[in-house]
Amino acid sequence: MKNPGADPETGREVLKAFLAEKSPLGPLRVMAARVGRFFQVPLPFFNPYIVFGPEAVRKVLVTERKKFIWRNQDPVAELLRRGVLVTDGEEHDHYRKLMEPSLHPGQLPRYAEMMLRQTDRVSAAWKDGQTVDMLVEGRKIALLIVMDALFGVDAWDDLPKVWKPILKAIDYISPGAWILWRNFPRPGYKKHFASLDAYLYKIIATRRAQNLAHETSRLKPDLLQHLIDANLPDERIRDQMLTMLIAGHDTSTALLAWIFALLGQHPAVQARLVAELDAAPEGEHPPLLDQVIKETLRLYPPIHIGNRIVAETVTFGEGQTIPSGARLFYSIYLTHRDPAIWENPDSFRPERFAHGRTPLKGAGQATPPMAYVPFGGGPRACIGAAFGQMEARLVVARLLKNFDFQPVNPQKIYPHMGATLEPRPGVFTLVTSRNPKS
Ligand code: HEM
Repeated sequence: MKNPGADPETGREVLKAFLAEKSPLGPLRVMAARVGRFFQVPLPFFNPYIVFGPEAVRKVLVTERKKFIWRNQDPVAELLRRGVLVTDGEEHDHYRKLMEPSLHPGQLPRYAEMMLRQTDRVSAAWKDGQTVDMLVEGRKIALLIVMDALFGVDAWDDLPKVWKPILKAIDYISPGAWILWRNFPRPGYKKHFASLDAYLYKIIATRRAQNLAHETSRLKPDLLQHLIDANLPDERIRDQMLTMLIAGHDTSTALLAWIFALLGQHPAVQARLVAELDAAPEGEHPPLLDQVIKETLRLYPPIHIGNRIVAETVTFGEGQTIPSGARLFYSIYLTHRDPAIWENPDSFRPERFAHGRTPLKGAGQATPPMAYVPFGGGPRACIGAAFGQMEARLVVARLLKNFDFQPVNPQKIYPHMGATLEPRPGVFTLVTSRNPKS
């Protein structure tokens, strides 16, 4: 099928949306509304196909997943090399199997105390009446948590050293001019990547030395120990560690920041959530907390798009065919905002998740499977889905119990398409302790 939707009127609307929002999200919404659940991006050197909606998502993630491969040669694969996120087939399955046990829901309770401790450590530095950026504070918390849980490293003292290299790595894999011109010169990254590698190799070497000296307990091995025990060489361990470090904290950072952004824009929801948290018995969370997290993931899914290469011709909708070799994105963002599925799709309404199932437009019907996919789906669904949700629950509950949050720029926040969907220019918030020291 020929480029569906690139008529001049649509082109004008796309441009208007881009200029108004300064982000490709507006144009994507225009294409979705005017063309439908299958279209091709009409740019001179970049023509990926975009699909969305439950049927297409199911096809990509489950029923016809073997027709797609994850990556060929893009900056993500260049950075992560043979990481679990960018490999296919048996190699992928091998790494995934090694890492699943430490992220299994049954293992998660042992991380709870640490997650709270790392949250308190970051928030202890806040002064009453100070304005903090929850995008930055969320990143500190998420980094400390992922490093501690997966590699047994308390990274507090390392944060100043690794901060810039990590941001550089994220910047490297974010969409940019390289999409249109693959060999676009990109100076200024190498030394940061080298320092990140040196940092990870040192963690591996330290653990190997501790193992030799029998200093570590293997009774509750963490993710790093599983990789070492599987006899992976350091280079492949580095690939998995970097993958988990980036995938496991940049997503949580965006989620935490968007939760505070949306609460700042909806003070009545924030007030109700704080009241319900205060009233909840020790160690329990009110249902509204989960509803807020779910609704945030619906409106601003940190991974808003899944990237694939078509390996075998595939057909969508009514005979719309994509040839092998083409790039395809399945859009989580558009699926989550499809007006055919969601009532008032652009509104923040946590209560839509109140009944344990997501209500479809029209009474009494449940949302079709794959209409809500913030963690993807099928055998390659997010390996850290349960971990990420527990982390958000614990961190948000702890912060709201200990601090008042007054938004500074609630109406000026817009989504930026980086490696994740990030609230920009940041989530500036005035914080005041709710437990003043007497
Ligand atoms: C709010 C938090 C998170 C969100 C929204 C999220 C979202 C996603 C999504 C949508 C995918 C599938 C992408 C696709 O189909 O192309 C994915 C995969 C993945 N995620 Fe997450 N993620 C989160 C947290 C985490 C955490 C905490 C970790 C690690 C500790 C993690 C590690 C991964 C990995 C390794 C994959 C690739 C799995 C595979 O291909 O087998 N994520 N994530």
